[in-house]
Amino acid sequence: MAGITNFMQGRSKRILVPGGAGYIGSHTCVELINRGYTPVIVDNFVNSSIASVDRIRQITGANDVPVIEADIRDTAEMVRVLREHECEAVIHFAGLKAVGESTAQPLDYYSNNVQGSLSLLEAMKQAGTGHIVFSSSATVYGTPVSLPYTESHPLAPTNPYGMTKYAVELMLNDLVASRAGINAGILRYFNPIGAHPSGLIGEDPNGVPNNLMPFVAQVAVGRRPHLNVFGNDYDTPDGTGVRDYIHVVDLAEAHIAALEKLLASPDSFTVNLGSGIGHSVLDVVKAFEQASGRDIPLEFVDRRPGDLPAYWADPTYAMELLGWQTRLTLEDMCRDQWAWQSGNPNGYPDVKIGAA
Ligand code: NAD
Ligand code: WQD
Repeated sequence: MAGITNFMQGRSKRILVPGGAGYIGSHTCVELINRGYTPVIVDNFVNSSIASVDRIRQITGANDVPVIEADIRDTAEMVRVLREHECEAVIHFAGLKAVGESTAQPLDYYSNNVQGSLSLLEAMKQAGTGHIVFSSSATVYGTPVSLPYTESHPLAPTNPYGMTKYAVELMLNDLVASRAGINAGILRYFNPIGAHPSGLIGEDPNGVPNNLMPFVAQVAVGRRPHLNVFGNDYDTPDGTGVRDYIHVVDLAEAHIAALEKLLASPDSFTVNLGSGIGHSVLDVVKAFEQASGRDIPLEFVDRRPGDLPAYWADPTYAMELLGWQTRLTLEDMCRDQWAWQSGNPNGYPDVKIGAA
C-alpha cells in the first residue's frame, strides 16, 4: 500500500539505514524496498560484507540502493549524506554487539555504540531529520525481577554492551524531552535468528559464532564438529537456557511499523520485540535437526559466565502500539536459517568494496 502511495507521489521516501549491510539491517532494507521506501545504506563494514547489498538488490529487483562506506562517528559525513539524499528518517543498526568482546574492549563499545549514536543524532539535528528508530536490546533489563519482561521492568544491564544500549536509550529520551524536533522509536529486540526465505541473506559472523543459532547451523553444515551446550542444570524444563527467539523477517517488519508510527505521529515510544514464547537450547537443536535433516552432535559443558537462565518478552504493547506481532515459528526460523547456511556454507563471498 505504502509502495503504491509513494509511487503515485512520484518519489519514494528515503530512509538512512546505518548498519544496513549487517544481519538485521539487510533484512530491514528488503522490507523497506518491498513497501516502497528507498534505504540509503551507510556502513563501515566492520562486521558485514558489501555482498549483502548485492543480495538485497537481487531479492527486490531494486537497482537504486545507495551505499556509502562511512563510519557513523564522522558527523560531517552523516550530515552530508542525510542532506544529499533528503532522508526523512533514520533506522539505526550500526554498532558492535558481542557481549564477551564488550567486556574485554569496553572503550571500543562506548566509542562505536554511544559516541557513534551521539554523532548520528547531532547530524540529524543539523540536517533537520526528525525521526529515528533505534536497535536496543532485551539485555538492558538485566537479571529478571519478574517475567515476562514488560517495558516497565527495571533496567540494569550486566555487561558493557548492554550499558551502551542503555546509555543510548537515555540519550534518546533526553533528546526527545528537549523538543529538538526529533521523535524516537526504541526497539528492544529479544533473540533474532533465521534468514530471508530466499536464503540469499542471513547472519554471517566473523570467526567462531558467539550465538546459538549460527553455531548450530555451522555444525549442521559441517564447519564445526559439535555444539557446546552451556549448562544443563538451570531451573528450566530441560535444564538448558530458555530464550525468546524471533524470526529476523518478523523483526524487519516491526521496523516498518515503527517507522510508519513515527512518521504519522509526534510521539516517541519504547517497545519489546519478541514472540512471548520461550524455547530451550535443546528445543532449538531439535527443531534445527528436523528442518535440516542433519544431526547436531552436542556436548554439555559448564554454564557460560553472565548467562541468564531464562527470559522472554511480554509482546502485548507491540501489538497495541504498532499492530505488530510475530507470525513465524521456530520451525520457520530453522528452515530459513538452513536455506541460508546450506546455500552459503562459508557465508558471503569475498567482494571488494565498490564491486557489488
Ligand atoms: P551486525 O553486526 O550484523 O550489523 C551491524 C552493522 O553495523 C554491521 O554491518 C557493521 O559493519 C555496522 N557498523 C558497526 N559499527 C559501525 C560504525 N561505527 N559505523 C558504521 N557502521 C558500523 O549486527 P545485527 O545483528 O544486524 O545488529 C544490528 C543492531 O541490532 C546492533 O545495533 C545490535 O546491537 C542490535 N541488536 C542485535 C541483536 C542480535 O542478537 N543480533 C539483538 C539486540 C540488538
Ligand atoms: C542463547 C542460549 C546460551 C551458544 C545474546 C546477547 C543479547 C542479544 C542476543 C544483542 C543461551 C546457549 C549459546 C552456544 C549454547 N544480542 N548457547 N551454546 O546470550 O541469549 O543473547 O544475543 O543485543 O544481548 O547476550 O544469545 O544465542 O548467545 O544464547 O548453549 O554455543 O544458547 O547459553 O542459553 P543470548 P545466545
